[in-house]
Amino acid sequence: MSARKIEGRLVIASHNPGKLWELRQLLGPHGVDAVSAGELGLPEPEETETTFRGNALLKARVAAQASGLPAFADDSGLCVDALDGAPGVYSARWGGENRDFGAAIERVERELKERGGKPPFTAHFICALAIVWPDGHAEEFEGRVDGVLVFPKRGDKGFGYDPIFLPDGLDKTFGEMMSAEKHALPGDGSIALSHRARAFQALARASLGPRPS
Ligand code: IMP
Repeated sequence: MSARKIEGRLVIASHNPGKLWELRQLLGPHGVDAVSAGELGLPEPEETETTFRGNALLKARVAAQASGLPAFADDSGLCVDALDGAPGVYSARWGGENRDFGAAIERVERELKERGGKPPFTAHFICALAIVWPDGHAEEFEGRVDGVLVFPKRGDKGFGYDPIFLPDGLDKTFGEMMSAEKHALPGDGSIALSHRARAFQALARASLGPRPS
């Protein structure tokens, strides 16, 4: 069965202005008008699920019910194999209340040392996207990028765990890349680089109508 198409107005279940801006760039050309949960004064639910998919669905469901509009949400994080997938869905929380990812990166390095692991430290980023309609219908998409962790960290661009993540096949960490290089959505049919861009590519293919010419 083909995915339900997104048309008209869509609520972005995020209070993050950066995410809203990126989504407007992506959705606008397809005739979708994105409005944020913050602009509608909707509450931000607690992320209580134990999977990326579960948290994305939870956030989208709450926003669709509260607004009566289709709602979009995402959840993402870093999974380190030698740490049994941690920090995973707790990636943002490892940064603490101040979102201090310098400290979160030190914690990853410390825990790897404590476990006596040896490089290469394989890891991946995951991004789960969910769209839920007010009638409960849901569509889900996922993007993943594999790589290894490098210490000490490299580069001061990006955010979160970018400076320690070296994607497979490349010689620059995400922290050494411009955002456009990391998140670009290639229009020529090739595969995007970041987990977020890969998930958006899947969403665009399945759920967006053609761009008006
Ligand atoms: P959320 O998806 O907004 O809940 O945030 C997930 C957390 O995972 C972020 O705060 C970052 O720490 C981490 N994360 C997710 N995607 C990336 C990325 O592309 N680079 C670096 N860190 C990321």
